[in-house]
Amino acid sequence: MITATAASTITGRNFIAGRWRAPGERNLESHNPAHWSEILGTFPKASAEEVAQAVMAAREAFPAWRRTSRIHRAELFDNLAQLVKRDVDALALLMARECGKVVSECRAEVIEGLHMIQYVFGTGRMPIGELLASEIADKDTCMRRKPWGVVAVITPWNFPFAVPLWMLGPSLLEGNTAIFKPSEDTPAIGQRLVELFEEAGFPAGTINLLHGEAETGEALVRHPGVNVVLFTGSYDVGQRIQQLSAEHSDRIVACEMGSKSAVIVCEDARLDLAVTCSIISSFKTSGQRCVSAGRILVAEKLFDQFAERFVATAKRLRIGDPLESANFTGPVIHPAAMEKIERYNELARREGAKVLLEGGRAKDNGRSDGCYLRPFVYRMEHRPGLRSIREEVFGPHLALIPFRTNEDAVRIYNDTEYGLSMAVITEDYRTMRLFREECDYGMGYVNLPCIGAEVHLPFGGVKKSGNGHPSAAGLIETVTHKTAWTVNFGTEVKMAQGLTTEIEGSPS
Ligand code: UN1
Repeated sequence: MITATAASTITGRNFIAGRWRAPGERNLESHNPAHWSEILGTFPKASAEEVAQAVMAAREAFPAWRRTSRIHRAELFDNLAQLVKRDVDALALLMARECGKVVSECRAEVIEGLHMIQYVFGTGRMPIGELLASEIADKDTCMRRKPWGVVAVITPWNFPFAVPLWMLGPSLLEGNTAIFKPSEDTPAIGQRLVELFEEAGFPAGTINLLHGEAETGEALVRHPGVNVVLFTGSYDVGQRIQQLSAEHSDRIVACEMGSKSAVIVCEDARLDLAVTCSIISSFKTSGQRCVSAGRILVAEKLFDQFAERFVATAKRLRIGDPLESANFTGPVIHPAAMEKIERYNELARREGAKVLLEGGRAKDNGRSDGCYLRPFVYRMEHRPGLRSIREEVFGPHLALIPFRTNEDAVRIYNDTEYGLSMAVITEDYRTMRLFREECDYGMGYVNLPCIGAEVHLPFGGVKKSGNGHPSAAGLIETVTHKTAWTVNFGTEVKMAQGLTTEIEGSPS
């Protein structure tokens, strides 16, 4: 079992057909972003051959799993829920060490994963289809959902526990089998999750684990034995998955990708509420949620007042050791992310930003090998084509953009290639409605941060943010296909649409 003590390093293994494979020769390392020199463990990069074996294992397990009572499948999720409750603290600790989120936030993520498991358990006894009317009184017709088969689950490091559960939960409940490839940056928490599935009693082959980087993910997506790919991550990878999947005519792909989410602070906003919502939206998780706000649009009349309060609060945020709950944020995920974010800070300056708060690297108690970045905040007048206020940065990099009218704010908000999450801060119901109707988004909030969705709500976006299959509970639709089933209770054949049943020349 994986433990999170600093002394032990974790031996990573792939899990195929109910068996933990021997450690590999080609390994990747999991680092602690708070102390980059600390290696949590080594994890085998699954080869194309192991990918094929995992797909085969999932295919072989599918018929028996599909035939298992749906309620029994759901009850295994009840077992899983008990195990997650038992291990909440250990899971949060391991996650904090592996992805650098503050442990209190990791705990909230474990709870979000638990909520998904509970949702799935509860859904086991809910309807799986609909009864429909027929034109012919003697016919009964119904729609029944059936599983597709084998689902590949490819997930990011920023939500390494809850997002896999968003995908694995509905997939397995509905009778699909799964192959899970966690992010190469958070393999330990991914492996721990699979250990819990095994302990909960999921049969061999129903859930398989493959560690690896892009090469492993690509082999998995290329495999013709995969029916569904569920992906959360960057637009570039999502696009690649969709391109590779176009080869397979019966392939379903659900992608939840990047964003340039925003909070819109209207002229009538309550200032305290606007500042709180904006700080949480921008800097929780060091700005590394896919829904994190990269932009705060502020009514010009309120701008100076808002900016002063916002910057003063951002300056005071405690950045440090993720194992200390009192810290507001920990480090960003790795040195390459720090460099990318810093490049965007420079780009913003070149594009004319008026810097209100210098970012820059931070140290934690004098240690210099943590990936700590302070928030970078700037004022930018909106102009078409500016990259810094249109592209996703995925870090503590934030533009405050003034606007004159609410209609201008809608135009500025929509001027990115993304459309994932937005919040509007207003006391006016007409203003609220304007943004609700005119903005491109998947998740909208009023007088709230633009982060923090709950699992039973649809989660996904439009434009480059998503391809229309909402994650979490919404995936139940995606991992099943709808079938029509019609039964004739009469002794004669009667067709719909008035179609005649007379067959010329047939004996009467
Ligand atoms: C993500 O941003 O990658 O809505 C997932 C939220 C969380 C999930 C975030 N429930 O902020």
